[in-house]
Amino acid sequence: MVDKQAVQRGYDELAEQYDGWRERGGRGVDLLDDVLGALSPDARLLDAGCGGGQPVLARASETTDAVGLDFSGEQLRLAGEHAPTADRVQGDMTALPFAADSFDAVVAYWSVIHVPLADHQTVVDEFARVLRPGGRLLLCEGTTEWVGENPDWFDSGTGMAWEIAGAEATDRQLLSAGFAVTDRWGLPESLSDDADAVGENDDADAANEAESSDDPWTFFAARLPE
Ligand SMILES: C[S@@+](CC[C@H](N)C(=O)[O-])C[C@H]1O[C@@H](n2cnc3c(N)ncnc32)[C@H](O)[C@@H]1O
Repeated sequence: MVDKQAVQRGYDELAEQYDGWRERGGRGVDLLDDVLGALSPDARLLDAGCGGGQPVLARASETTDAVGLDFSGEQLRLAGEHAPTADRVQGDMTALPFAADSFDAVVAYWSVIHVPLADHQTVVDEFARVLRPGGRLLLCEGTTEWVGENPDWFDSGTGMAWEIAGAEATDRQLLSAGFAVTDRWGLPESLSDDADAVGENDDADAANEAESSDDPWTFFAARLPE
C-alpha cells in the first residue's frame, strides 16, 4: 500500500521538478472551462491536491474564490507563487478540513491517484460532503487499475508511488457518493492539452465508451443533485 508520508515527502523534494514539467504544457486545463463557465463569480472552488498551482489553481482563481489544498508544504509554497489570490490549506484529502456544503465545485487533477485504493471511496465521499447541493466535480483517474512505484522519478533519486483505481471503479465510487456523471473524456499520455471526447452525459453508455478508450487518463465531470 502507498506510504502516504513517502508521497508527501516525495512531493516536497520534487516540487521544483514537478513544477517545471507542469509548466511545459497546460495538460487537461481546457477541461476546466466547462466547470468555470457554469459557476457564478462568487463561487467557491476547491482544487484538491493542487500541487504547485499551475495551471489549474491559477486558472480557477482568475474567476472563482479558489482554495488549493495539498499535503505537501513545498507544493503549496509554489502554489502561492503561481496562484497568489487563491487561499492555500495544508491537509489530507481523505479528511478534508472544511465544513459540509462549503464549495460549489471541486477539481482533482492527478491527485487521487496517490491515495491508497482502500481510501478512494473515502475521498470521493469527502468531495460530496464539502460540496453544496448541485455542486460540480471534475476528477482525473487512470483509465485502468494500476498500483506501482518509481524509485527514481524524474531521475531525481526520489521515489514516488501510485494507486490507480481505474475508470470502472471510479464510476461506482461516484455513484455511491451520490454523484451523476455528466461527461467523461480520455486524455493521452502527452503534454498536449487536447482531450478526446469519449462520451457525453449521464447514462450507462458513457461508461461503455470510456472502456473502449485507449487513453491512460479519464476525466469525469460529475454533479450532485440540486
Ligand atoms: C501529480 S500532483 C498533481 C498536482 C496538480 N493537481 C496538477 O494538476 O499538476 C499530485 C498532488 O497531490 C498531492 N497529494 C497526494 N495525495 C494527497 C493527499 N492524500 N492529500 C492531499 N494532497 C495529496 C501531492 O502532494 C501532489 O501535490
